[in-house]
Amino acid sequence: MSPSTYQPNVPAYTVPGLKPDTAAEVIFLLQDRLNALNDLALTLKHVHWNVVGPHFIAVHTMLDPQVDSVRVMVDDVAERIAALGGSPLGTPGALVRQRDWDDYAIGRADTHTHLAALNVVYGAVIEAHRAAIYATEKADPVTQDLLITQAGHLEQFHWFIRAHLETEAGTPANQEGHDEKAAAERGRNGSATRVQEARQTPAPWRGGPRAGGR
Ligand SMILES: [Fe+2]
Repeated sequence: MSPSTYQPNVPAYTVPGLKPDTAAEVIFLLQDRLNALNDLALTLKHVHWNVVGPHFIAVHTMLDPQVDSVRVMVDDVAERIAALGGSPLGTPGALVRQRDWDDYAIGRADTHTHLAALNVVYGAVIEAHRAAIYATEKADPVTQDLLITQAGHLEQFHWFIRAHLETEAGTPANQEGHDEKAAAERGRNGSATRVQEARQTPAPWRGGPRAGGR
């Protein structure tokens, strides 16, 4: 969420030992993580449905367990917000209103194009999760513990994606940072048309106010 949308609603009550003002900060932070994880779960399903090509079944079936796991993370974060005395916002409208990244924009495309894009998406989610981990270290270690566990799973899923794109020498697919065009180029699988479509369509991992910061 951008600073302009920041609304620290101090809860009437929170967990014992935590100040309501501190709880408000943690709730705000968790709402942002809730939005990112909800967005990620939907995006993974979207790719599950739209991926095509010779390696279709491998990628198609790899993604469903990730969706299931991320949905559990969504529930855990939302219920942590509630436990802290907040009100988790889980509607599509709230998600779109609060997020400051653009929608994932690739439709039907080959496996490597989607994997290159997901590599950047996961990288952004994990980066923001780590920032939240550092931010909650003193404020609320219980929330931090939840986020640390989730980051471990997210980093494993990120590896699953990245492993499809790495070279034998272990060269990371995202060595050029968050440049989506480079990612699409790397993911090109002999389908120049798909890459061109990806380049012409705005996407969350393609600039915007919070590139690389879901
Ligand atoms: Fe399915």
